[in-house]
Amino acid sequence: MKKFTFGTPEKLTPSGFCDNLNYVETAVKYPRENFSFKKTPAGCVLEFPIEDDCHIFGFGLQLKQFDHRGRKLRLDVNADPVTNNGETHAPVPFFVTNKGYGMYFDTARYAEFYCGKQKNGASRKISAGGAADNTDELYAVRNESGAVMTVKIPAAEGIDVYVIEGDTITDIVSQYNMLAGGGPDVPEWGLGVLYRCYTGWNSDKILEMIDKMRDEGIPLSIIGLEPGWHTHAYSCTYKWSDKYPDPQKFVDEIRKRGLHLNLWEHAFTHPDADFHDEIAPYSGDYLVWGGVVPDFATNEARKIFADYHRDKLVNLGIDGFKLDECDSSDNTGSWSFPLPSEFPSGLDGEQYHSLFGTLYAKTILDALGGQATLSEIRQMGALAAPYPFVLYSDLYDHRDFIRGCANMGFSGILWTPEYKYRESESREDCIRRLQTLVFSVQLLVNCWYFDGTPWEIHNCADEVRELLVLRQKLIPRLKAAFDRYRDEGIPPVRALVMDYTDDAETYKIDDEWLFCDDLLVAPIIAGTGDEREVYIPAGEWVDYFTDEPVESGWRHVNTKGIPVYRRVRR
Ligand code: GAL
Repeated sequence: MKKFTFGTPEKLTPSGFCDNLNYVETAVKYPRENFSFKKTPAGCVLEFPIEDDCHIFGFGLQLKQFDHRGRKLRLDVNADPVTNNGETHAPVPFFVTNKGYGMYFDTARYAEFYCGKQKNGASRKISAGGAADNTDELYAVRNESGAVMTVKIPAAEGIDVYVIEGDTITDIVSQYNMLAGGGPDVPEWGLGVLYRCYTGWNSDKILEMIDKMRDEGIPLSIIGLEPGWHTHAYSCTYKWSDKYPDPQKFVDEIRKRGLHLNLWEHAFTHPDADFHDEIAPYSGDYLVWGGVVPDFATNEARKIFADYHRDKLVNLGIDGFKLDECDSSDNTGSWSFPLPSEFPSGLDGEQYHSLFGTLYAKTILDALGGQATLSEIRQMGALAAPYPFVLYSDLYDHRDFIRGCANMGFSGILWTPEYKYRESESREDCIRRLQTLVFSVQLLVNCWYFDGTPWEIHNCADEVRELLVLRQKLIPRLKAAFDRYRDEGIPPVRALVMDYTDDAETYKIDDEWLFCDDLLVAPIIAGTGDEREVYIPAGEWVDYFTDEPVESGWRHVNTKGIPVYRRVRR
């Protein structure tokens, strides 16, 4: 990995906020001369040729697209990313290719990436397959069409670009993750079933529901409370409402049942919050829902927020949080701060939106004081591998959620395709969604606006039990995969192209993924029937459920279950 500096980079960038940044320079084959750099009145522009057969993956949680070749992306933070233009809950200015290299752009700006423009006169003609007979040709890209990638970084007068090389995309991505300090240390209980309760329930009703689930043999590991637990939720007071008359007793009852408790919140701090006046001077110049926006880039705001959370919540026995609304919900209905905001740290609104997730997560980890967690968050950004926070979305297309699973591994982020009870959806939807979740990093059932359990309404408790028990069985394997993520940077969920980078068939497969070391998962999308085509790469594979050998290549499957295969040998 090698860092190339162009112009004068900005002072406030993701690497500056990355506590365990671990940059060790090594020689790379990629020549600096490939880049051309210029400053413009609107920022700076970097350009480099890309190979004619170059496929481009990554850029964060892209729910709408897999291979970005030929596209324009603008890496805006957006809580409602319905357009296929780069906007996302979690933009990451890092891409990887099938050509042995990837690049990380160290910026908190909403950068624009044009992934394959044709430059007038810039073509470097090296005939495909021709042997290079001098170093210029050796290092030049096979680029008969003259295609370039053009990257615009708004406002900045320069940029640091980290070029990372490796034989497979997994090799490249793991180096990017280790640059940030490696994956998180995740507890086994965090990988069990997380059930988020109806916002209208009180402490008694929740305990009643837990006992009923236990009697029915439905596995459960974490209980999530939604907005109803605060005296005021939008903005937040972080104080218990009268639905929880004795919070300590409630938490103790949860603990007695061997469960963990996770609290919903966002960072916009209501005037009634105990620490409001203390944190107000370390906040931005706009309010959201009447609450201040703490500047977690300052040590003061982080300390005030973390101290309160530790004293009043973590010390009660809370060991998880759901950090909502930190993903620029401005597009939804003025639910966030504008880009021209100013923060005491010197960040502007655009930069703070890009960094909000990681800084908020860092603050909550300070509050947890070393206690392990697997929590949730709705925004993440660059160099986020060390954070034990899983992304989720209010969007709900099952196909897009599956693409999210295939895409998460490229960018050092975690993603759950959560199941949410919706009146309009069917029993089949419930089961297909849960099948997908069993083989994802976090099994999240979100019933925040449903006064009941989905399996009761859909009359499918037996199927649900079977799936959740299967999840329990997978936890040691998933924990081992997370340990590898922590130690080696290899993500627990990976698109096929990450491990099989030489296999061109994998370049378009965005509805299958590798789960842990040796499983291949090919979920069936709710509402599409029971059939699909599955691609199995080279190697020796068996059906995960029957142990029957299966051949590599494309196969047609027809099942009410989820197709999963186990690799016996590469
Ligand atoms: C949304 C969130 C949902 C739920 C809801 C509660 O922003 O995505 O999962 O928590 O808020 O109001």
